[in-house]
Amino acid sequence: MRVYKTKNYEEMSRKAAHIIASQVTLNPDCVLGLATGSTPVGTYKNLIEWYEKGDLDFSGVTSCNLDEYKGLSPENDQSYRYFMNHNLFDHVNIDKTHTYVPNGLEPDSEKACGQYEEIIRAQGGIDLQLLGLGHNGHIGFNEPADEFPKATHCVDLTDSTIQANKRFFENESDVPRQAYTMGIGTIMSAKKILVVVSGTDKAEILNKVINGPITPQVPASILQLHPDVTIVADEDALSKTKL
Ligand code: GLP
Repeated sequence: MRVYKTKNYEEMSRKAAHIIASQVTLNPDCVLGLATGSTPVGTYKNLIEWYEKGDLDFSGVTSCNLDEYKGLSPENDQSYRYFMNHNLFDHVNIDKTHTYVPNGLEPDSEKACGQYEEIIRAQGGIDLQLLGLGHNGHIGFNEPADEFPKATHCVDLTDSTIQANKRFFENESDVPRQAYTMGIGTIMSAKKILVVVSGTDKAEILNKVINGPITPQVPASILQLHPDVTIVADEDALSKTKL
């Protein structure tokens, strides 16, 4: 694991954007695995800025997002499809027909998840996967569990995740209780992984991810086994980690 410590959120965002920009520049036809949550928003802002300056071209890029709430339509402003359009896709020259998110409107979980795995396979796999980190160590929506789920699957969200995500919804009862997410196996199959982490509220869990035992109780701890992981985290997030 390569860990970059940055002064603050802005520097974390710039550094992560540089890593993604290098990927796109070196391999204009790459497949990016993208993430939602508040942490990557600054990274996307930098990418948009550099695209507007003419320094980046997304026309050949394909993207596959980590996860989607089950039951939300792409037009719902809390869906992850909406988030991606709003925070990145609408502002760069990526071909939207080459941007994939699990189909939240497919009620048949097996079908939705099988189709998503097939989409990723058909793109030749993910070159660079961007990840945020949940307070309980989740990546995508892979919640703490007794084993590492392999492929894309349907999850029941934990109370901690519902609590963390309710800030985006009008009422807590509006937060979907289930989601489709890439599995740990899907994520680990990416050639490169980039994790962005910010804030003291993530300090304890980040230390467990980097220095703790590899356990499905801390899903992101499995990243210790991946050959090409870069963590870009600010001082606050790394305040409890011995490097
Ligand atoms: C959600 C997403 C995750 C994300 C996590 C952390 O649960 N499914 O992919 O990493 O939130 O979000 P934030 O960056 O807002 O802390």
